[in-house]
Amino acid sequence: MILVLNGPNLNLLGKREPDVYGTVSLAELDGSCVEAGRELGVDVVCRQSNHEGELIDWLHGAAAEGATGVVLNPGAYAHTSIALRDAIAAIEVPVVEVHLSNVHAREGFRHKSVTAARCAGSIVGLGADGYALAVRHLVSDRPR
Ligand code: DQA
Repeated sequence: MILVLNGPNLNLLGKREPDVYGTVSLAELDGSCVEAGRELGVDVVCRQSNHEGELIDWLHGAAAEGATGVVLNPGAYAHTSIALRDAIAAIEVPVVEVHLSNVHAREGFRHKSVTAARCAGSIVGLGADGYALAVRHLVSDRPR
């Protein structure tokens, strides 16, 4: 099973700054992740929280739930949360960080992700495609 975790404000996808994040809703994004998993024969479970601690609890519980990989869009916590970084470092399950927008083409404070360094890798700026690519990577048995 692959866990897809979306952080703060991503519940507003589709309505929130559509010029930056597009018009796809979170439900549609989750659907495309589930579909990517179906094509690969793997279950995909999607969750969203606006709360840092809840994201941390889901990361801690990922292995016990049977997740073999986590796709994480930490939202703005990517730029600020040492606690989330430590949670990623604390678990064995590989985490791929995804951002819908190209954070490097935006404000300077978005250029730095404190969480990405603890992830297996990161994908930015490819919109919903980034999530499907991350799912595909996590179910592949390529060495990392
Ligand atoms: C985001 C980028 C972050 O900088 C921002 O705070 C978000 C969304 C993205 O998916 O592009 O909430 O993570």
